[in-house]
Amino acid sequence: MKTIIEPFRIKVVEPIRMTTRDERERLLREASYNVFLLRAKDVLIDLLTDSGTGAMSAEQWAGIMRADESYAGAVSFYRFKEQLTSMTGFEYVLPTHQGRASERLLFELIGGEGKVVPNNTHFDTTRANIEHSGAEAVDLQIPEAKDPRNRHPFKGNIDIAALEDLIKRVGPERIPAVMVTVTNNSGGGQPVSMANLRETRAICDKYKLRFILDACRFAENAWFIKQREPGQTERSIREIVREMFDLVDGATISAKKDGIVNIGGVLLIRDESLFQDASNLLILTEGYVTYGGLAGRDLEAMAQGFEEVLEEDYLQYRIRSIEYLGERLINAGVQIVEPTGGHAVYVDAKSFCPHIPPEQFPGQAVVCGLYREGGIRAVEIGSVMFGGHGRPNPAMELVRLTIPRRVYTQSHLDYVIEATIELYTRRESLRGLRILDEPKALRHFTARFEEL
Ligand code: F0G
Repeated sequence: MKTIIEPFRIKVVEPIRMTTRDERERLLREASYNVFLLRAKDVLIDLLTDSGTGAMSAEQWAGIMRADESYAGAVSFYRFKEQLTSMTGFEYVLPTHQGRASERLLFELIGGEGKVVPNNTHFDTTRANIEHSGAEAVDLQIPEAKDPRNRHPFKGNIDIAALEDLIKRVGPERIPAVMVTVTNNSGGGQPVSMANLRETRAICDKYKLRFILDACRFAENAWFIKQREPGQTERSIREIVREMFDLVDGATISAKKDGIVNIGGVLLIRDESLFQDASNLLILTEGYVTYGGLAGRDLEAMAQGFEEVLEEDYLQYRIRSIEYLGERLINAGVQIVEPTGGHAVYVDAKSFCPHIPPEQFPGQAVVCGLYREGGIRAVEIGSVMFGGHGRPNPAMELVRLTIPRRVYTQSHLDYVIEATIELYTRRESLRGLRILDEPKALRHFTARFEEL
């Protein structure tokens, strides 16, 4: 059979509600043109994020009932730890409440004034946590990644030559870790090749540097490696995942992505003394080492989620549904970041509305347009998210249509395609925005805008 179907059937349903255009106009104004400030009940199709928004399986819910809520040494902790150890090879595993808690623990310990942390592209919370520690976060994507039309199969790769230049320029003693984010969320959800991970490892060995993976979407990355990388197609997803983790000294994971849970995170550390320090900090601010700010049931759901995400028919359906959305938009003339990535389609807002300059946030204009048009909530990944406070505007102005795991069907995506194309035909009517007020960091969450 050629048709790739959702490899599950639906047991529990949740109604979604259509609003009128007039209602949406008012709701958008009341939310100060920031869709983070909308109420979710006023959104028809929520493509804000794939984080914590996935549907759990019957087995995950069963695990939630079975879970052990003991404060210390719970059965559920050991199930979680064994799942992670068998999947990644790491013996030292800490649960955290989500990805940014893992980042905060790590950078409180290894960051600080004068330090520099390179990455392919830092996600916003990673950058914010590094900067909060006093260190500098540097993005080193390959040049191909900055061109939405370039169909390089591994646009998430870190630029190895630029990495080595940076190490030589600032000195290895100032670099507490080299990071690579798989898939590269801020760079279009693009994968990183195994060859690039191996080369990064070699550079880290040469300069005796730590290599940390931001592994939020490790399984999706592994699927791309299997599909696209010479010499990898015969390997199982499990083997590829294992090698990705074998190459690094630590990993921060938001289980809200490829753990397919609504809350949870992981910190993996190879070095015993750093693990001890992280454990002490975890106890101080998050919770005891066998629950890390979570309930036993969350650990149980994560253990099961990390198993299910490795299933190849799940990954095939997952990546194909993103590709389907992307193909239809490209065919209608909407420029997206090509090829489609792992968890989202990234619309190129610069070409969608060339009449709006970056200072007037073209991505945010498209986000507002999609909500007006179809009650769809997308997210800006451009100058709103990364600019401001003296930072340069990013290379690309993107709008991310992020697909939650196992939540929407193909007809939901057909609706999103129709609404996006409809908006595209009337794109001249989109207007730029101006920021009325904003916080110092992570401004996209709470900034208020007005339309120009
Ligand atoms: N790293 C990456 C690559 C991420 O995409 C995220 C979250 C985090 C770290 C932080 O994890 O949210 O559990 O604290 N990304 C979400 C998104 C929020 O919408 O892309 P967290």
